[in-house]
Parts: sequence; C-alpha cells; structure tokens
Amino acid sequence: MPMNNSSQCPRFLTLEGGEGAGKSTNIDFLRRQLVAAGVEVVVTREPGGTTLGEQLRALLLDTGSQLCDDTELLMMFAARAQHLEEVIRPALARGCWVLCDRFTEATYAYQGDGRGINLERIAQLETWVQGELRPDRVLLLDLPVAVGMERIGGRGGPDRFEREAQAFFQRVRDGYLRQAEADPERFRVIDATVSLARVQQQLNAAVADLL
Ligand code: TMP
Repeated sequence: MPMNNSSQCPRFLTLEGGEGAGKSTNIDFLRRQLVAAGVEVVVTREPGGTTLGEQLRALLLDTGSQLCDDTELLMMFAARAQHLEEVIRPALARGCWVLCDRFTEATYAYQGDGRGINLERIAQLETWVQGELRPDRVLLLDLPVAVGMERIGGRGGPDRFEREAQAFFQRVRDGYLRQAEADPERFRVIDATVSLARVQQQLNAAVADLL
C-alpha cells in the first residue's frame, strides 16, 4: 500500500461477523496493513476496550449471568459510552485511526435480530450514546453459521452468546447481511469461507479507497 497522509483524516473502521468468522486473526492483519501504509491506528474491541468495559464484558459473557434482554442491550451501550469517552473519540481527535472489533452494528444483529429487540429502540440508544458518530467502514466477515460453529467447536467452554442455538446465529447472520444490503456505502461483505490469503485480499480491497 502506498504511503499517504491519511493520519490527517482519521477513520473509524470496524470488523464484524458471526462466531468463528476469524475476526481476531484478521484484525491483526488489518492493523499491520494500516501501519505499513503510515497510519497511526488504535486497535480496540467491544464490549470492552476500557477497564469498565472489560468488567461489563466479563458479566455479559459469563454463563452464570442472569440478564434480561434489555439489561444486555443497556450494558452493551454502557460499555460503549465509556469506550467512546475514554478511547475512541480521543483517538480520532488525535488524528489516529480506530480499528474496533465489533461496534453498534453487532448490537443491531445480536440484540436486535438475535434477541428480537425492536431495532428502533437500538437506533434511539445509538443516537443518544454516539450522536452523529458512525463507523466509516464496516468490514463484515460472512460465513454460513454451521461453518462458524464448527470452527469455534474446538475452543474452550462456550460463553453466554456461544451457547445460543443455531437459529439465533442464523438471525444474527441474516441481520448483518440486511444491514450491509441497506448501507452499501459503509459496509463491505467479506467472504470468510475462502483461504486466509483470499480473505486478506478482500480486506485490502475493502479499505484501499480510504488510504
Ligand atoms: P467477540 O466474540 O467478538 O469477542 O464478542 C463477544 C460477544 O459479544 C459476541 O458473541 C457478540 C456479542 N456482542 C453483542 O451481542 N452485542 C454487541 O453490541 C457486541 C459489541 C457484541
């Protein structure tokens, strides 16, 4: 990738996808690509990214937590408010890019389509917590639910989300794809079923115009 002056134009990028889509490997790849292009980048994640956010994440993922759907939704946005205040807005203001492993598009997919919370309520919280701020580019790693489940099968004990039934993850996938279809300016759908090298080619192409 060419060197550039993109640090003068901070960008907010997010990586999304169902379970087992390969976000962790690919976020690291993207970070290296951006650094190689001369971009100063802050890599972070949701839920999490701050001390409080990581505490909320632990509660959200703990299979022992008894959370009703609205509580889960509000905890996602509580973690997000803290994350925006402590990490994301300051980084963008400093001229850094932000590369975030999941953001509000995950809330629409998981709490909206997955749990069945009215998307309009999520939109209200989005505006309340974020104001006008939205990711400039959402990279959606897409793959069939069964393939993702097989990939995570070998990991440790499932967390509170990973325990959900296949039908839940199908709604999540469909929800993500609907968002992508409705907002092609911001979303790029990456076929995550192909080899890592081909996934990474797609990721490069999906951010090339921003650099
Ligand atoms: P991870 O798998 O990316 O580490 O994320 C942890 C889980 O949190 C994952 O199962 C998706 C879920 N999640 C939501 O349900 N809503 C959200 O808004 C976010 C950011 C994550």
